Amino acid sequence: MTACEYRPGLEGIPATQSSISYVDGHQGILEYRGIRIDELAQKSTFLETAYLLIWGGLPSKQELNDFQHEIRYHRRLKYRIRDMMKCFPESGHPMDALQSCAAALGLFYSKRALDDPTYIQDAVVRLLAKIPTMVAAFKLMRKGNDPVQPRDDLDYAANFLYMLNEREPDMLAARIFDICLTLHAEHTINASTFSAMVTASTLTDPYAVVASAVGTLAGPLHGGANEEVIAMLEEIGSVENVRPYVEDCVQRKARIMGFGHRVYKVKDPRAQILQGLAEQLFAKFGRDAYYDIALELEEVINEKLGHKGVYPNVDFYSGLVYRKLGIPTDLFTPIFAIARVAGWLAHWKEQIGENRIFRPTQIYQGPHEQPYIPVSERP
Ligand code: ACO
Repeated sequence: MTACEYRPGLEGIPATQSSISYVDGHQGILEYRGIRIDELAQKSTFLETAYLLIWGGLPSKQELNDFQHEIRYHRRLKYRIRDMMKCFPESGHPMDALQSCAAALGLFYSKRALDDPTYIQDAVVRLLAKIPTMVAAFKLMRKGNDPVQPRDDLDYAANFLYMLNEREPDMLAARIFDICLTLHAEHTINASTFSAMVTASTLTDPYAVVASAVGTLAGPLHGGANEEVIAMLEEIGSVENVRPYVEDCVQRKARIMGFGHRVYKVKDPRAQILQGLAEQLFAKFGRDAYYDIALELEEVINEKLGHKGVYPNVDFYSGLVYRKLGIPTDLFTPIFAIARVAGWLAHWKEQIGENRIFRPTQIYQGPHEQPYIPVSERP
């Protein structure tokens, strides 16, 4: 093996071979299992897309019905998980709550059988079914309220919005939320997926895999950026303030949240679709006050940073959609996690199918042959 050039952040270095998703960052193309994201957003549902990602092909009608049925009947949380959540500090971030709950789920299924297809199927169903319930439960329980029980007559997206807002959602809102989940379901080897794969490669259980990915997604340079976008729009406050805000950021070399991507050097195709969804919601429920600021921001950043390939990423318009759906800002990243569980599980399954533990190398830059100085002799 020849020595490789060191690339910070492993930029451009293939970490795996995968047939789950594909991104062309210059043409703005994203495909799941070869199908364009625009087509899936328009014609599929989140659960069908999750099936496609995890099992490698679109389900037959019967397979889809069975999958939906299984998930519907595994949505409830164990009372011990709910009891555990009661002890969480109400000011804690929901991503920390979710990470803890995902890991705790592993306590109930500690027998690992990674070569048993039933074990894999059950873990997929449980995680896809229960993660939304955990997010909705924490939202209510942190205020001292009881969680709302899932409703078997509602589909995946509608049930989540029902558990969250304690009322049946509008049909358009539920469909748009489902599309948001589809758009966020998978995105090649991003930081959280890489984290999931590294954890999976040790052959630990899938609950630990998802917990480690949730922890990675939480950071502001990854999934956490969607919350920061809303904070930034609040801070800017008016369309007139956009240009000076951007000029100041450019001058200080500060990052503008919701812009830029390691892979996309054009507008993220998901941002394009999300913007359209936001507009559909505004047409039905009224325009968001921040939308004009967002439009101006996109224009000014295009002018100032477009030459560096800095354009809106998936997090830029998702926050405006979620705001219109009545979702609190600190749940934006957990919602990203609800969707991305599908991608993480697809990579978990792919990883354990042909596993080799991740063990990269490093370039040591420290000293050698140092003397040990007893504490009494140290300055
Ligand atoms: N605001 C201002 N300038 C930016 C931004 C940004 N958001 N993103 C990149 N740039 C600039 C950099 O300053 C750099 O300029 P330089 O060459 O003059 O130094 C140039 O564009 C290239 O940027 P890199 O740092 O090489 O880009 P990298 O691939 O390392 O970063 C990242 C990608 C982390 C997403 C970055 O764009 C960023 O911090 N964006 C803001 C946070 C964000 O929105 N994250 C969500 C990403 S999507 C997701 O994870 C789901």
